[in-house]
Amino acid sequence: MSLIGQGPKDNLIERFARHVSSGKAEFFSQVGVDFIFGKREGVYVWDVAGERRLIDCHCNGGVFNLGHRHPRVIAALKCALDELDIGNHHLMSEPRALLAERLANLCPGDLNRVVFGVGGGEAVDTAIKLARGHTGRPKVISAHGGYHGHTGLALATGDEQYRQPFEPLPGGFVQVPFGDLGALEAAIGDDTAAVIFETIPATMGIVLPPEDYFAGVRQLCDCFGAVMIIDEVQTGLGRCGEMWGINTYGVIPDILVTAKGLSGGIYPITATIYRDHLDRFLHDHPFIHISTFGGSEVGCYVALEVLSILQEPGFLEHVRQMADLFRDGLSRLQSKHSRVLVEVRQRGLMMGLKLADPAYGPPMTLAGFHFGLLTLYANHDQSVNQLLPPLTIQADEVGQVIESLDKMLTWLENR
Ligand SMILES: Cc1ncc(COP(=O)(O)O)c(C=O)c1O
Repeated sequence: MSLIGQGPKDNLIERFARHVSSGKAEFFSQVGVDFIFGKREGVYVWDVAGERRLIDCHCNGGVFNLGHRHPRVIAALKCALDELDIGNHHLMSEPRALLAERLANLCPGDLNRVVFGVGGGEAVDTAIKLARGHTGRPKVISAHGGYHGHTGLALATGDEQYRQPFEPLPGGFVQVPFGDLGALEAAIGDDTAAVIFETIPATMGIVLPPEDYFAGVRQLCDCFGAVMIIDEVQTGLGRCGEMWGINTYGVIPDILVTAKGLSGGIYPITATIYRDHLDRFLHDHPFIHISTFGGSEVGCYVALEVLSILQEPGFLEHVRQMADLFRDGLSRLQSKHSRVLVEVRQRGLMMGLKLADPAYGPPMTLAGFHFGLLTLYANHDQSVNQLLPPLTIQADEVGQVIESLDKMLTWLENR
């Protein structure tokens, strides 16, 4: 019997509201969204109740970089389950050694060492702990409107609206405008442990920094002995047309955080990857950071398969080709719908559609449910619709996305 659609949808929504999140159920009912993931395959997700089908251009921020239920990723998990389980996190581990070695080989410079985790926020917390442990300094600088997760230290780097109810949070966290080197220069000092930025902040609205920004960040970190942390949770693993988004800016951070896509959409696993010179602290305190499920051994084999797929000859070239198709299509849409679509932001398949008014973002997302597309507006700039299709998308499917967007923008114009 299928696990999907086991009862009437109304009843399912009621049970979700009663036992999972009454607030979410109320919100979605008010905005008129009743879509619930049912069957899913490749770039498509179907509603639990039947025929309605969307192309997933949200992909949970990159979790579904390889599309839904990639057969090779599923096979890797099934195969790992024949012999392994989660393993013991205190002991040494073959799968963790193999995956860490592979990640190191895929990273630039001497980003050679890995701490595994389960979620992206946890991986960011680990990065900040390492930076503070290594430098013995308190200050952590992040971007206004950025997003690094909702766990302890990651939460402290983030937006006021999520922090405020949980205060007091750990001290030492300050924020600067993203892309502004002068502001960073004014904030950084001898007390700075770390500077943390997303390569392209997604929740901020897919904001592309000036091309020389990260070289400047690198220089300032070097000058003050601060650790440069780059959050590649959304931009990494091929999303920007290179293995890591930061590669496209020609800069090597001290710590690189990867999460979402490493799971293949199948088994959660994250990695905080750091340079050799930061190792002294964790070498001296090997049990100071613990994660029972971090680097689960079966998850390591899932991640290894994800990386093998990304490393296949032609994979990144395919991403760049699809990005070119999107560039052409979106530029046509911008000319046609110039009143509502005012800017296209793009690096590889990391894309954002800047609309003329923040009030347009939510209805644009709603329109997607009617015209076959799952896209979400950026929470910290609701004038931007995030567009992150699976990297495995094919040319005809890019055509379908552009067609849907055309209908959505037409609907928005005529509202
Ligand atoms: C850039 C970035 N960093 C960190 C996180 C946190 O990841 P998680 O939700 O797995 O804790 C997210 C999640 O959306 C993210 O987009």
